[in-house]
Amino acid sequence: MVLASITCTAPVNIAVIKYWGKRDENIILPLNSSLSGTLHQDDLKTTTTIVASEDYTEDELYLNGKKEDINAVRYQNVLKMIRSRATKLMDKKHCVHIASINNFPTAAGLASSASGYCCLVFSLAQMYGVEGDISAIARLGSGSACRSMYGGFVKWEMGVKEDGSDSIAIQVQPESHWPDMNIIVLVVNDKKKETSSTDGMQKSAATSVMMKERCAVTVPNRMRDIEEAINKKDFQTFGDITMKDSDDFHEVCATTTPPIYYLNDTSRYIMNLIHRYNKLSGSVKCAYTFDAGPNACIYLPAENTTEVLSLFMKHFPGDNIQTYYRGPKENIPSIENFKPSEKLASLYTPETTFVNSLKYILHTKVGPGPQILSESESLIDITTGLPK
Ligand code: DP6
Repeated sequence: MVLASITCTAPVNIAVIKYWGKRDENIILPLNSSLSGTLHQDDLKTTTTIVASEDYTEDELYLNGKKEDINAVRYQNVLKMIRSRATKLMDKKHCVHIASINNFPTAAGLASSASGYCCLVFSLAQMYGVEGDISAIARLGSGSACRSMYGGFVKWEMGVKEDGSDSIAIQVQPESHWPDMNIIVLVVNDKKKETSSTDGMQKSAATSVMMKERCAVTVPNRMRDIEEAINKKDFQTFGDITMKDSDDFHEVCATTTPPIYYLNDTSRYIMNLIHRYNKLSGSVKCAYTFDAGPNACIYLPAENTTEVLSLFMKHFPGDNIQTYYRGPKENIPSIENFKPSEKLASLYTPETTFVNSLKYILHTKVGPGPQILSESESLIDITTGLPK
């Protein structure tokens, strides 16, 4: 007999102060605090359904339709912690079937582990009636996942306790605080297999000479300053710190033994273009940040989006704007017809055009945290217990 069923969604987050390095590999405790913006789920989200039944003989997990090994350590850590804090369902012998899908291609190289583990933990917590903070349970799945528990701008306090109970996510401001904040993701064409974040940060923590100063001085100062910038909606400071922290993170990777390089020529071209554009404009109009891969994530105020999008369209033209630009369709005419000011004309010279460097351009906003969906959105067929 089916005892309970729930379907939820959770967002992706993109850090502006990067988490890189652990002080405990098992329960995932970081060497530094970090801070991110939550991306809107209209564009990027994970959806997860969990069904608990007395008829199931084992826990099962399906990701994008494919059965995964639920006995993997991180899944087990999450399940055990949830069940140890359950206030519902534990009086009945049962197992759960879990199905999870992303509304964005995993091949795009956009972080899916954050939204994935967040959605798993949020859904499990609803089903088992777990009370209090659950971000620390998401953290057991993947560190950055704890920050997807909330919308808006979210910090992950590194904490000091050995059991990790103070290493939790805290909302700095909800999405309604700075509705003007837009995000453009330039999905870069790249086939190279990257070093995973988990491996990369372990190597950096062990070998990069930059780590000590970064964790002891640079990040604590930046956390304080960027939080203040968010509270004051001061984009100049926010953008400046965001780019500096991204640059430093990639410098940490480059000073790791053996060195790790996540950026490619396209990424570096984008960085350079953004610096030239900001300089000519006389202010920080947009700010890039790069995770453990070549994709650029650009934070910018709404008023600059047409200019910035037209700039990228010019340098990285696509065949069909309808599929190449994944954002509000009503923006397309103004992007296509945009005429740069004289001041910016030098950025539009014809030799700087790269075809096929980007897969597509995604335009989104800062958005809300996890949501509970209705029964009709379930991903699992109750009669078979399998993904629909
Ligand atoms: C570069 O959270 O994927 O995106 O905790 O080992 O699962 P694990 O690592 P993960 O690392 C994310 C690293 C980053 C920076 C960030 O999101 O803060």
